[in-house]
Amino acid sequence: MRISVIGCGYLGAVHSACMASLGHDVVGIDVDRDKVEALSNALPPFFEPRLPELLETQTAAGRLTYSTDISATAAARVHFIAVGTPQQFNQHAADLSYVHQAVDALVPYLAPGDLVVGKSTVPVGTARQIAATISRRCPEATLVWNPEFLREGFAVQDTLIPNRLVYGLPDDDRVGWSDQAGHAARAGQTAQAGTSANGTRENAQSMLDAVYQHALANGCPRLVMDYETAELVKVSANAFLATKISFINAMSEVCEAAGADVSMLSDAIGYDDRIGRKFLNAGLGFGGGCLPKDIRAFMARADELGAEQALTFLREVDSINMRRRARMVDLTRQACGGSLLGKRVAVLGLAFKPDSDDVRDSPALNVAAQLQLQGAAVTATDPEATANAAQRFPELNYAETTAEAVEDADVVLVLTEWQQYRSLDPAWLSGQVARTEVVDGRNCLDGEAWRAAGWTYRALGRPELPAAVPAPA
Ligand code: UDX
Repeated sequence: MRISVIGCGYLGAVHSACMASLGHDVVGIDVDRDKVEALSNALPPFFEPRLPELLETQTAAGRLTYSTDISATAAARVHFIAVGTPQQFNQHAADLSYVHQAVDALVPYLAPGDLVVGKSTVPVGTARQIAATISRRCPEATLVWNPEFLREGFAVQDTLIPNRLVYGLPDDDRVGWSDQAGHAARAGQTAQAGTSANGTRENAQSMLDAVYQHALANGCPRLVMDYETAELVKVSANAFLATKISFINAMSEVCEAAGADVSMLSDAIGYDDRIGRKFLNAGLGFGGGCLPKDIRAFMARADELGAEQALTFLREVDSINMRRRARMVDLTRQACGGSLLGKRVAVLGLAFKPDSDDVRDSPALNVAAQLQLQGAAVTATDPEATANAAQRFPELNYAETTAEAVEDADVVLVLTEWQQYRSLDPAWLSGQVARTEVVDGRNCLDGEAWRAAGWTYRALGRPELPAAVPAPA
């Protein structure tokens, strides 16, 4: 297939490279010249495991190009919309301007029979508006809403081996769950029905099936539904994940009040497979470019639809999440003997999660910034995210290495659970710092091992462990 991908951020850059690796001819479009130049030279504009290799092989094979010129979409038959939908300034609602600009720029280059595929996360009702825009300008092009569920850090794997494919099709199609066999049966029925409207939808569906042939052949479930349901699948999945994290963080607050241990609680309740252990890691909570803004946009849209009561619980989910950041600042103050003023705080981890350089709404960066603003002298480091963090919050000191960050520190904070921080040797570290005080913001360290090495270990949702032995002088 000849494919265009409009928007080459975390979603579009990965999607374009993955589609090329499946054998499609792909052009990625972005308005950012620097990004296009970097991608054209097979240099990923952000950190994502496996992406550099894909860009290298696919650009070399000539299947993958990038351009700032939207007219390059004219050669493609399938057009993915993968631009961002950030939170609007000072409001909860999503900013849809990039989506509408992308569609407006694309429509002059659409040809009859083309497929436009929406991937961006949008408020329910957006696809229908976009379909109307497309049909005014090119009535024989079709819009499918095909939300993306990739996780940063696993984006290549999630794109190449998705756990489900969701197709939101225009009205009046046969909707429902379908596996490969179901699809074959339904395709037969539709051919008999043979209306032209169904023909368009069938065509759209089979074009998208051709794009995802590899995943479908490997048994990936494909669910066919209407636009609104497809849009809601994405935001409700993110709302559920956010709720699960805030649930365990609410338990964390209760554990702190009762002197209990939230990590053990997570393990114990997670054995019930109706609950499941995944996404029950208590700590600093969720951040990133998706969960926080998606739950807020979801609440804003529910308000507009008159269904605000249905989502009032998400306000609590958001507040629990933000309270963890404040609690982390309090624990750090305690570890510093009651005042942050002039204290040297070493922050390990700035990205919103490991294996990413993304600091959008990062709990780690937020805590580091609050500590600095409250009078501490913060030195922060991260294996990948220091440059992005320095751009957003230049007031912090940034260090290249852990050793540099922790030198003479009064307290060490672990705020993103990179493997290299999980496996730090507390005995080595105790020789670098001024005071052996650690606060584990991600419940990712072995508290007993740190305590045995002379550290006072504090964590969110767990009892404090005082040092077992005096720290070596
Ligand atoms: C999320 C969804 O998982 C993905 O399906 C969607 O497409 C985009 O949004 P992502 O933002 O990449 O993906 O990160 P995710 O792995 O979901 O983590 C989100 C945040 O939750 C991170 O800050 C992470 O540290 C935090 N988290 C996750 C927890 O605090 N506890 C957990 O148990 C899991």
